[in-house]
Amino acid sequence: MIHSTQIEVLCHPYSEEDIMRHLMSPLDFSVEELNDLLDLANDIEAHPDKYAHICAGKKLATLFYEPSTRTRLSFEAAMLNLGGSVLGFSTADSSSAAKGESVADTIRIVSCYADICAMRHPKEGAPLVASTKSRIPVINAGDGGHQHPTQTLTDLLTIRSLKGELGNFTIGLCGDLKFGRTVHSLIQALIRYPNINFILISPEELRIPDNIREDVLIRNHQNFAEVVRLEDAIPHLDLLYMTRVQKERFFNEEDYVRMKDFYILDREKMKLARPDMMILHPLPRVNEISVEVDDDPRAAYFRQAQYGVYVRMALILTLLEVKVC
Ligand code: NCD
Repeated sequence: MIHSTQIEVLCHPYSEEDIMRHLMSPLDFSVEELNDLLDLANDIEAHPDKYAHICAGKKLATLFYEPSTRTRLSFEAAMLNLGGSVLGFSTADSSSAAKGESVADTIRIVSCYADICAMRHPKEGAPLVASTKSRIPVINAGDGGHQHPTQTLTDLLTIRSLKGELGNFTIGLCGDLKFGRTVHSLIQALIRYPNINFILISPEELRIPDNIREDVLIRNHQNFAEVVRLEDAIPHLDLLYMTRVQKERFFNEEDYVRMKDFYILDREKMKLARPDMMILHPLPRVNEISVEVDDDPRAAYFRQAQYGVYVRMALILTLLEVKVC
């Protein structure tokens, strides 16, 4: 009979001296490390063949306790593009969470089956708890209304690739700034770049949380304004980051229904925007961007989703410390 402690030893892929890295927040990487990661993502985009077998024999586990299309599938596509394999679950119901298993126990087990994992969970901090018990790198693929660092990597890569630099722009962040984790992570990441003005566009009830306003924007002397009307902000923007009202984080349906169509970006409003204003959206989109805007050359959200694959490939290589020869 094998006892659980023996299993842990048998499965341990690292020696005592190894320092294993996880990704919980975009701030887990320095600006220099982020630049290297984005450079690697651009190289992957330009030379995909070079990377096609580099993770042969490696496995990525996707542990998704909350719905996802882009994040989970782009992680899986990323690992498959690198020649590795994938395993995992896409709902809490189909995992032992339904039987009451803790995240801490699940990750101990998954550490025996995979080399790296991406976890999405409705509870803030769940991936962090997992990382403390894990023997493989854990990537936070979205924890409640808290953080979504790999969406931020995607956003940074998109902005840098399409605008040519990270810095020297005015960005409008519009929609559900209260519960939108992509916005929280993106603001934290962007304050490290020069000369960025933030215009926070939301209804009163969905304003940015105090911890981001006070501890991130004010404490770091950032230029920012809070407005309610999109029409007032749009003429001043180089980038417009639209977000969905986060239905699943509302306590009651009535409030969601009242808020859900507060902003609708359509052709009329786009007439107020600069000719080169770029529209980003982490997706999924509900009604906040009218489909008539999709053909506008300024709409970059579908290209943004493609960048998500390259950046997740770069992230997997970085955390697994796989080097290209
Ligand atoms: C975002 C998320 O899950 O927070 N989606 C994504 O990962 N691209 C945004 C959202 O769901 O609104």
